[in-house]
Order: sequence, then structure tokens, then C-alpha cells
Amino acid sequence: MNSIRRPVRPVSLRRVQAWLAGVVVLRVVASVAANYRAYIPPDFGSEFLRGREAYFWGGYSWAFYVHIASGPVALVLGLFLVGEWSRKRLRAWHRRLGWVQVMCVLGLVTPSGLAMARYAAAGPVAAVGLASLAVATAACTTLGARAAARRRFAEHRRWMWRSYLLLASAVVLRLLGGLATVLGIAAPWFDPLANWMSWLLPLAAFEVCERIRRRSGTIAAGARAVTTR
Ligand code: HEM
Repeated sequence: MNSIRRPVRPVSLRRVQAWLAGVVVLRVVASVAANYRAYIPPDFGSEFLRGREAYFWGGYSWAFYVHIASGPVALVLGLFLVGEWSRKRLRAWHRRLGWVQVMCVLGLVTPSGLAMARYAAAGPVAAVGLASLAVATAACTTLGARAAARRRFAEHRRWMWRSYLLLASAVVLRLLGGLATVLGIAAPWFDPLANWMSWLLPLAAFEVCERIRRRSGTIAAGARAVTTR
């Protein structure tokens, strides 16, 4: 009998984590879309629209409907685009859909989010957090698109990961809201803080991981240079 054991490759664990993250994103998008019954036509007794009737029928309704239509598209399309699979095996589709994503984020999701930010239900601190999120997402997406056009693909990958993590703040925010319900947190500071943390925490985690990855890449390259001398 062959008793050679196959080593567990770390890449398999990473793949499982990526699949799990994808399932969570799709699950949250499905639950967000389930709420749309309260938005078409608008039900001003529903949780999100309560108290918004006074300003809804002005420019807000335009921003709102553009936002709730484009947000889930950007989130699902982004999932496909940041996946290794699309980048390596479906390069032509990655390129075409990548430009669709850039248009969707820059032309629809971020301007509509910015327009809605001043009416944030959690108050002015949350409003500034959401407006900053809109600007940061647009900036990362623009820099990612520019790097792709200049064929700087490592740089492109990093900016687009940042852009996607910022879009995924919509998922993190809803997970934090669920956690607060489970833990019974009803303090007034929670929602404004959660609005900021939903994008600052994933972005900080990404920067730390990137730094570690680059440092270990430099060390490995150094070790290779020493052994081949
Ligand atoms: C990163 C860019 C984004 C910004 C700046 C942003 C901004 C906002 C703002 C300001 C609001 C209103 C919040 C309030 O009044 O309390 C909102 C609501 C909403 N956003 Fe976004 N958002 C972004 C991304 C997304 C994404 C990717 C989705 C996809 C699921 C999404 C889905 C929604 C939905 C469905 C609402 C309505 C409230 C609800 O049903 O939960 N947003 N967003």
C-alpha cells in the first residue's frame, strides 16, 4: 500500500476561505434584495424609509433607486472579477466586465451613495463616514482602472481589491448590525461607529496582509539570490 501522505497545501485553505466569503456576500445580497418589496412602491412604514417621506420625492428617490439597483450588481460582478479564476482563465471576460464594473461604480454606485449620505439614518458622524467611503471607493476604482490601462497589473490588482473591499462594506455593515442585535447592543454610538468600521477595518486588514506578503516575497527572493550565488 502506498503510505505517502500528500501535504495539505495552504492554497486549498485560502480557496475554502474565498468560497466562504463569496457565499456570505451572495447571502447578504439576497437578503438585501428581499427588502426591495418595501421600496417598490416605497413603503414609508418600512425600517429604512420610515421618516423619509418629506424629502424622498426630490432628488433622493433618483439616487436611492439608482443605488439599490447598481449596488448589488457591483458587489456580485466584483466577486467574479477579484476571483483568481476569472483573472487566469477568462481574461477576455475579465477585461470586458472589468470596464462595466468601473462604469457601474464610478457612474452609479458612488455618486448615488454620496448623494444619499447627508440623510444617513445614523446621523452626521455616519454621514461623513459614508461620504468618505464614496470618495475612497471612487478613488481606488479610478486608480485601478488607470493601472489596468497602463498594463501595470500588480498595481491594478491591489487597487481593485481595495475597491472591492470598500464595496463589501455594505455586507460588513449588515453583519455588524446582525451582531449588535444578537448581543443586544442598542447604544446610540454603535451605528455611527459601525458605518466607519465597516470599511476602515477591511481596508486596514488588507494593507497589513499586503505588507506581510511583500515582505515575505522580498525575503524569499533574497534567499533565492543567496543560494544561486
Ligand atoms: C461603497 C460605496 C457605497 C456607498 C458610499 C453607499 C452609501 C449608502 C448610503 C449613504 C445609504 C443610505 C444610508 C442611510 O440613509 O442610513 C445606502 C443605502 C443602501 N445601500 Fe449603499 N453604499 C455603497 C455601496 C453599496 C453596495 C455595494 C450595495 C449592495 C448591496 C449597497 C446597497 C444599499 C441598499 C440596498 C441601501 C438601502 C438600505 C437597505 O435596504 O439596507 N450599497 N448606501
